[in-house]
Amino acid sequence: MSREGQPAFSAPVNVEDVERIAAARLPRAALDYYRSGAGEEYTLRNNREAFRRLRIRPRVLRDVSIRDLSTVALGKRVAVPFGIAPTAMHCMAHPDGEVASARAAEKIGAVFILSTLSTRSLEEVAEAAPKATKWFQLYIYKNRNITEDLVRRAERLGYKALVLTVDAPLFGIRWADARNKFHLPPHLKLANFTGPAEADGVRERTTKGSQLQAYVTDLFDQTLTWDALTWLKSITKLPIILKGILTKEDVEEAINHNVAGVMVSNHGARQVDGFPATIEALPEIVKAVCGRCEVFMDGGVTQGTDVFKALALGAKMVFIGRPVLWGLAYDGEEGAKTVLEIIRHEFDFTLALTGCSSIAGIEKEMVVPASFYSLL
Ligand code: GLV
Repeated sequence: MSREGQPAFSAPVNVEDVERIAAARLPRAALDYYRSGAGEEYTLRNNREAFRRLRIRPRVLRDVSIRDLSTVALGKRVAVPFGIAPTAMHCMAHPDGEVASARAAEKIGAVFILSTLSTRSLEEVAEAAPKATKWFQLYIYKNRNITEDLVRRAERLGYKALVLTVDAPLFGIRWADARNKFHLPPHLKLANFTGPAEADGVRERTTKGSQLQAYVTDLFDQTLTWDALTWLKSITKLPIILKGILTKEDVEEAINHNVAGVMVSNHGARQVDGFPATIEALPEIVKAVCGRCEVFMDGGVTQGTDVFKALALGAKMVFIGRPVLWGLAYDGEEGAKTVLEIIRHEFDFTLALTGCSSIAGIEKEMVVPASFYSLL
């Protein structure tokens, strides 16, 4: 045991190590909230397992002495093809919360997506990480003035895109949160809001189950249709990425509405148990998009090889959610940076060991389902 009475851990070498340390440190309700998925969590497990079912076919004897990990997303060059996915309420993991995670992204040159449901505000994050490429994740509230205010602040503060989450008219049924009657600890609030219902609504306890689920049911707009996108485009010139796309049918609608990108996402497997793993859904979306907008994905990415697999299957960039929270709980900004560094290191080695010196060298044929080999 360490002096603080916590178990002693050696320095983490992979994301699983960081998760183990975080799990020992986080209060139960926060850990359960971050970790849980919907229902019996089959989709949550499958987000990881589906990566394992893919095989990498390496090429050899290609000069890999100099490697370039950078890519271009929404017209801007970024140092690595992975970024931080929007996850809610980082201050439960570390007092610096989203300020620490944005700074970690800035240091690595990774895109940072701030959640609407953050415990540090748009302004605090913009000030703390002025050089980071920041995008803002948006929910549409029943009161459209609230959403419009968020959009105006994101524009003014230099956020470069809006990531509109379209898979959450309600939040999914997460058994652990229901059991814990999940709510924000009393010293925290949703920092993007001043109105008491929006800012404090997850802290109060007005329900028998998860207070966050009650908040969403009360305040998010369940009547949304594709017209909401028309409305959003009418009030902003920022590029819009639709997050939560899992079918080719919805790709057509998205393209008809001139989105800049779609994010293949099952919301961290937190909405409906039985949705496909995101790496399973990715090929359908890439095929349907056919180069007409950018394709991003999140869900289950914990290793550099996952990044490689997603890029080979056509993602422009992937986003990492829970591992960053584990990094925050482990060691604040340093811990979040450690997680990004681990994934960068693993991705860099995967490039070298598959004969690629840049992302352009990753060929589609390099990633196949395991069944490719069982046929031989
Ligand atoms: C927030 O987006 C959540 O899924 O809890």
